[in-house]
Amino acid sequence: MQTHEIRRRFLDHFVKAGHTEVPSASLILADPNLLFVNAGMVPFVPYFLGQQTPPFPRATSVQKCVRTLDIEEVGKTTRHNTFFQMAGNFSFGDYFKEEAIAFAWSLLTGSVADGGYGIDPEKLWATVYLDDDEAYSIWHDRVGLPAARIQRRGMKDNYWSMGIPGPCGPCSEIFYDRGPEYGVEGGPEADEDRYIEIWNLVFMQNERGGGTSKDDYEILGPLPKKNIDTGMGVERVAFLLQGVENVYETDLLRPVIDKAAELTGAAYGVKHDDDVRFRVIADHARTAAMLIVDGVNPGNDGRGYVLRRLLRRIVRSARLLGAERPTMAAIMTVVRDTMAPSYPELATDFSRIETVAVGEEAAFLKTLGTGSKLFEGAVEAVKAEGRTVLGGTEAFTLHDTYGFPIDLTLEMASEAGLSVDEDGFRSLMAEQRQRAKDDARARKHAHADLTVYKELLDRGPTEFTGFTELVSEANVLAVITGGERLHAASAGQDVELILDRSPLYAEAGGQIADIGSITGQGLRIKVNDVQKIAKQLWVHKVTVLEGQVVEGDSVLVQVDPEWRKGATQGHSGTHLVHAALRQVLGPNAVQAGSLNKPGYLRFDFSWPSALTEQQKQDIEAVTNEAVASNFPVNTFVTDLDKAKKMGAMALFGENYGDEVRVVEIGGPFSMELCGGTHVQHSSHVGTVTLLGEQSVGSGFRRVEAYVGLDSYRHLAKERALLAGLSSTLKVPSEEVPGRVESLLERLKVAEKELEKTRAANVAAAAGDIAAKAQRVGDVLVVAERAPRGATGNTLRTLASDVRGRLGGDAAVVLLLGDSDGKVPFVVATTDAARAKGIKAGDLVSSFGPAIGGRGGGKPDMAQGQGSDASGIDTALDGFRNRLRELAG
Ligand code: SER
Repeated sequence: MQTHEIRRRFLDHFVKAGHTEVPSASLILADPNLLFVNAGMVPFVPYFLGQQTPPFPRATSVQKCVRTLDIEEVGKTTRHNTFFQMAGNFSFGDYFKEEAIAFAWSLLTGSVADGGYGIDPEKLWATVYLDDDEAYSIWHDRVGLPAARIQRRGMKDNYWSMGIPGPCGPCSEIFYDRGPEYGVEGGPEADEDRYIEIWNLVFMQNERGGGTSKDDYEILGPLPKKNIDTGMGVERVAFLLQGVENVYETDLLRPVIDKAAELTGAAYGVKHDDDVRFRVIADHARTAAMLIVDGVNPGNDGRGYVLRRLLRRIVRSARLLGAERPTMAAIMTVVRDTMAPSYPELATDFSRIETVAVGEEAAFLKTLGTGSKLFEGAVEAVKAEGRTVLGGTEAFTLHDTYGFPIDLTLEMASEAGLSVDEDGFRSLMAEQRQRAKDDARARKHAHADLTVYKELLDRGPTEFTGFTELVSEANVLAVITGGERLHAASAGQDVELILDRSPLYAEAGGQIADIGSITGQGLRIKVNDVQKIAKQLWVHKVTVLEGQVVEGDSVLVQVDPEWRKGATQGHSGTHLVHAALRQVLGPNAVQAGSLNKPGYLRFDFSWPSALTEQQKQDIEAVTNEAVASNFPVNTFVTDLDKAKKMGAMALFGENYGDEVRVVEIGGPFSMELCGGTHVQHSSHVGTVTLLGEQSVGSGFRRVEAYVGLDSYRHLAKERALLAGLSSTLKVPSEEVPGRVESLLERLKVAEKELEKTRAANVAAAAGDIAAKAQRVGDVLVVAERAPRGATGNTLRTLASDVRGRLGGDAAVVLLLGDSDGKVPFVVATTDAARAKGIKAGDLVSSFGPAIGGRGGGKPDMAQGQGSDASGIDTALDGFRNRLRELAG
């Protein structure tokens, strides 16, 4: 039975039993605790916890899941997959254990003709939690499973949670017995290779707190209702039903292995090491494609890092299998063909998937060869020295210069029998990490406990009146602070207000919240921020300025009209820039984030390199042409499928409801799913001025722009600057650049001339200075101020020139300069002086302190610099005195 069919039968079975079919959520749900969705129940957590009322009592889904904790284990055995599909049925306080077990059993053992999987009941085993007699007796008495095939297991195996605080409960797992050729008798307790777990039925009834391991955490208490969460591993059922040995032999993965064999010339099933590489390619390619299609781009931290690591492991594995040319495009094509029947977006978005994956391959191939050589050299050196640890510096260079993810280096090192100085590596990485941290701006409300809002959420969403009016009457539904219901608040208090309706825009889709006020009888409230909870409840964060606000009050809510006008310009401007970017750069410039407010916008998008000057100009031109075209702005509500068919752009990773709002500017020019506030005609945006472009992490760029009056103000300021320059330079403004260039040219020539003259003057001074030599004992001493302008090299040349003029005598020269508060000096000795034991370097201490300077050097010449010109005379005396001592 093909995998797609297994999925279809699962969903049909549960839809028939009254479940609502829910499409898979994106792999990147906005949960800060989860890197990726890793179980079918993740999108339903608020329903289990009772924080939100589920729109249906029963649901079924096949959820895309990614688990990447043990990437290194992939392929070593056939048991690990980083991507898998979890088919599940869910009851939110509706049915419980008995039905859950019966539903699972009838699907597994029901005949193929009747829509089941047709599995021989004799092959199935079940486990239950230690003291779960209820589940035991359902299996035994209702289903008729013999006692010998029901095992009781402890918390580690039969008590399920997400591994983090949240819903949890005892579970019952269903296993398939592959027969004696796969291992010993004795059920899952004895051998989990022979007995394969295919379905986990969780009786979700408690809430857990923090903890350290699978079987060590606190149970906080019962959930409001008893729920069911089940998860059937689609891939596992597929390999059993397809009668093959393991997941890698199924219709979804084997074709990728075959393609890899064709591309590399190696054979699967011959050498264990090669097989591991084949399985890495097959597993990772599928996961990478699914991540890219959900909007992940390769990067150096978080999700992007996981994707980068997956892609680079594919590249390295293909290389080790013998590939001499790029293989990524061909491999991704097979992934698309096998997976698209269930995930059509892999076909429709294929060019983006290919661009991202192939781009990463190209980047890594460029450095893989040299990096590998560096690695091998370092390994040899470490071994030759009898050490076992590869240095942090090497690991960092491999990462920084050659793009080797540290985990790849760790793996390669362990293949070579070495470990890596990870501490050293990490301290070198500290700087990069800091940047990553700054990026990961914690989302407001990310960890909030939603319980206090539950009743309000159940009442329905806040009515947003702000598309049509800026002032609305509203009722105060709740006064809240710190997760607690206060019912009333008075002057001076900062609280949250929930209203039944509001014209104030709550931050979303990159547009920041409106500012405004709330007033009533003797009441004055300032609104500081407006945020949404669960996408539907407006939470007004306010300061009560005057009076008292009490739940039930009628109030007047007002948006600051100037602010709103600016906000619509900012948001519509963002859509225009987005459309222009895609027109100029093509469809691979995918939106990664945006922020807009009155007068300003910024837009982040995936793009591998800096924009050229021409591209920036083109983007600005296309944007402003769209402004000038005075396009009408239309908004309408439709369903997601229709909107996508019309070509409306959606943000990857965002979960849209069934009904979506489309904002269209100039028909095909710009069409986006968006809940923001917009101008009515594109000309209202006003001039858009691009401020520049910069990198925001690997693979992402950011453009910023001013719109409306701010754009004008910015341009006016620049014009004033230019006018100032033009009047200073006394040329019309268009001649300013030419004039500045010619001035710079002249300046360069003049500086060179000046340098020459100075050098000549200084050189000319050599004779005069030499003539001032005084005899101290049998040594000729020159201790003089150098002519003005003698610094560094000229001073040095001058000193050796003077020394030369003193001939074969024992002679010592000290020259002290004085320029810009610095006192450079040079001491030089002749051969004859050195023969008497006089060393230039030793003499510095005789005068250095007087000018606050230090320095040193060789016996023939010493050089340095002081900072106190007032001590020059003392310094000269000190020097002469020292020589007198030496000569005397
Ligand atoms: N949440 C359970 C699991 O992931 C069953 O869906 O195994």
